Amino acid sequence: MHVAKALRYARNTAWSIRGSAVRPVGCAQSIRSRFFASSPKSCSEREPQSVSALAPVGVEAALQTPINPSSTTPRKIFSEFAIPDRVGIVSGGGRGLGLEMAMALCEAGARAIYCLDIHDKPSEEWEAVREYVGRLKPLEQNSSSNSSSRLEYVKVDVTDQNAVWRSVKEIGDKEGRMDVCIAAAGVLKPEKDVLEYPGEEFSEVMNINVNGVLYTAQAAGQQMRRFGNKGSIILIASMSGSITNHGHAWIAYNTSKSAVLQMTRSMACELGGEGIRVNSLSPGHIYTRMTAQYLDSQPHLFTKWSSLNPLGRLGRADEMRGVVAWLASDASTFCTGSDILVSGGHHAW
Ligand SMILES: NC(=O)c1ccc[n+]([C@@H]2O[C@H](COP(=O)([O-])OP(=O)(O)OC[C@H]3O[C@@H](n4cnc5c(N)ncnc54)[C@H](O)[C@@H]3O)[C@@H](O)[C@H]2O)c1
Repeated sequence: MHVAKALRYARNTAWSIRGSAVRPVGCAQSIRSRFFASSPKSCSEREPQSVSALAPVGVEAALQTPINPSSTTPRKIFSEFAIPDRVGIVSGGGRGLGLEMAMALCEAGARAIYCLDIHDKPSEEWEAVREYVGRLKPLEQNSSSNSSSRLEYVKVDVTDQNAVWRSVKEIGDKEGRMDVCIAAAGVLKPEKDVLEYPGEEFSEVMNINVNGVLYTAQAAGQQMRRFGNKGSIILIASMSGSITNHGHAWIAYNTSKSAVLQMTRSMACELGGEGIRVNSLSPGHIYTRMTAQYLDSQPHLFTKWSSLNPLGRLGRADEMRGVVAWLASDASTFCTGSDILVSGGHHAW
């Protein structure tokens, strides 16, 4: 039978029940098994392996929603990106990309996002963001509970494993859950010839960019396991983990970012069985305090870096919002062990 006919049939059948306890994916499989000869098993033989928290969504929703010309159908795609009531941590969340991502998670509906950073007190910029976040309208699906989002600050050095674990456990004790982790704390040092690179500085960079990322991810993962609510861990790597920046002597930084890529795959494989997803995000050149140390003192680099990707410009910190909202949310529940490159196409040339 033609597919269009099959869909019409599905819409008109009595078992197309909207909002019922019927297992939506299984029923859709039954539709498929009727109309697609290659379907290997019927609904009664195979239980669905997983179901969307917002099920039915997508084509399944279309198949199960009775046609009613007087009502409109809900748009669910944005709800899939929402993270209502979830709790997360962002290392390096005191400024730059970390702060931008922490704020994005609050806008996506998180109950509380804790920014872990090394400074004793948060900056004025961070305080302004906290105030803005406190005034965000509740998510539509939360509007009755009037819940808003909180941005919190915790001073911690990510290279101190015990301190990171302890701080994040305290967050777990207070909030009773842990859902999202972004490990963004990192450093980029001045350039040095690879053959003369001092071991002490190499270790310092690795300690922050690799060990610190591991300790942060461990701390969040421990709480995710403790509460059994699954979770999404996002390790901030860099395109410099996959390519070498032309003309720059950044051996420690580049090596550290490659390590984060493999850490991502390895953690993802160990934790997948617990529903804890681990992905890395690899940004291209973005103007932040980290890159300002180069761009402000060597203005020609602005033109050079801009010319190194097909879009012909640097990225903006806010251009990380969409990808972290996606990775943190149920819109990406089948994504783990992946590196997401957001580089303006720098890596494609
Ligand atoms: N800006 C870019 O172009 C770019 C590109 C690719 C990847 N990244 C990565 O993104 C992440 C954020 O970079 P950014 O550009 O926002 O830099 P940034 O310097 O503005 O922010 C880094 C943050 O990490 C914090 N931090 C550093 N050491 C710490 C420690 N030991 N403990 C706790 N916090 C510590 C800093 O205080 C700061 O708030 C880094 O991992 C960086 O490597 C940045």
